[in-house]
Amino acid sequence: MFTASDTLHQHGAAHPAGASGAMILQEMGLSFTPALEREMRPLYTRVADVIPELEWASFAPYIKAINILKKEKNAVILAHNYQTPEIFHGVADITGDSLKLAVEATRVDEDIIVQCGVHFMAETSKLLNPNKTVLIPDGGAGCSLAASITGNDVRALREAYPNVPIVTYVNTSAEVKAESDVCCTSSNAVKIVEGLGVPRVLCIPDEYLAQNIALSTDVEVIAWKGRCEVHELFTPEELQQYRKDNAGLKIIAHPECKPAVLAEADFSGSTAAMIKWVTDNAPDKVLMVTECSMSDNVAVENPNVNFVRPCNLCPHMKMITLPKVLEALVYEREAIEVEAHLAAKARHAVERMIELS
Ligand code: 13P
Ligand code: SF4
Repeated sequence: MFTASDTLHQHGAAHPAGASGAMILQEMGLSFTPALEREMRPLYTRVADVIPELEWASFAPYIKAINILKKEKNAVILAHNYQTPEIFHGVADITGDSLKLAVEATRVDEDIIVQCGVHFMAETSKLLNPNKTVLIPDGGAGCSLAASITGNDVRALREAYPNVPIVTYVNTSAEVKAESDVCCTSSNAVKIVEGLGVPRVLCIPDEYLAQNIALSTDVEVIAWKGRCEVHELFTPEELQQYRKDNAGLKIIAHPECKPAVLAEADFSGSTAAMIKWVTDNAPDKVLMVTECSMSDNVAVENPNVNFVRPCNLCPHMKMITLPKVLEALVYEREAIEVEAHLAAKARHAVERMIELS
């Protein structure tokens, strides 16, 4: 009879380099047997429209294994809305946008947080839970926005714009957050900017988010030149074409898109706000101008909505897979650490955001 502790003993202790997810499944005696197929059928029925049966046969044993180990190790899985449906619907305990994940990270009781998302999200969870183990299944899952700016850049901005508060998108490293006055996400950016009560702010690093904030406030917004490599691909012309091709289409867009793209949309907001919009409005046909997996995840809960899908994938988000989540739990890797001299200052910027929002 298998127990997860056996697996940990056999692989974690005896083979520190680690066995692959497939080998762990083998040790756990898990494969897609008729019994497992029957046990997992209620879950598959929910996701059948977005996960082909052939893929389900390989996902189901991982989902079972991860859910066993999660309990045994007192771990919680936080997953961003851009995670694939098998992670989002199969193993996540808490799902949401960047703000919700940051807020929920302050409330978890479990000893281990597994962050299914990108590195800055895991780092934010660690900042808010310095005494917990925070794991990211692939530490290489970055973000083009986070990569666009360094602590040195922020120090140079501070010198160039003395007395102008620095509002930093959470899509940044702890080093950049530590140099900032307050963080923001796409759900609270305007509120944070206006909440500071000043005539001028720096909004870094997302140039388009800053331009979109500027259109919604009288506060003067100075931008940096970072871009989301997924959202910058959308163009107003393609959205116009989608409208022509799909009568009655509603278009909702993420504020990391350029202002000209948002001008073509019926609504714009964070990923959570976009999901709420679909749920509240139940449109016949909708195009979500954002990362590709989100439409799949939302379609599961909204079977009567027809999703038109331009598929722009975030390569960083897609680095997180079920085998890597399983390996993360078994070997407790990759553990996030934030240098003490940065952590307190970075935490302050995130906590100030949570207070202001
Ligand atoms: P939100 O989920 O906060 O809208 O962020 C979108 C995003 O690109 C995260 O990487
Ligand atoms: Fe970064 Fe864009 Fe990917 Fe989000 S979707 S993690 S902002 S690159």
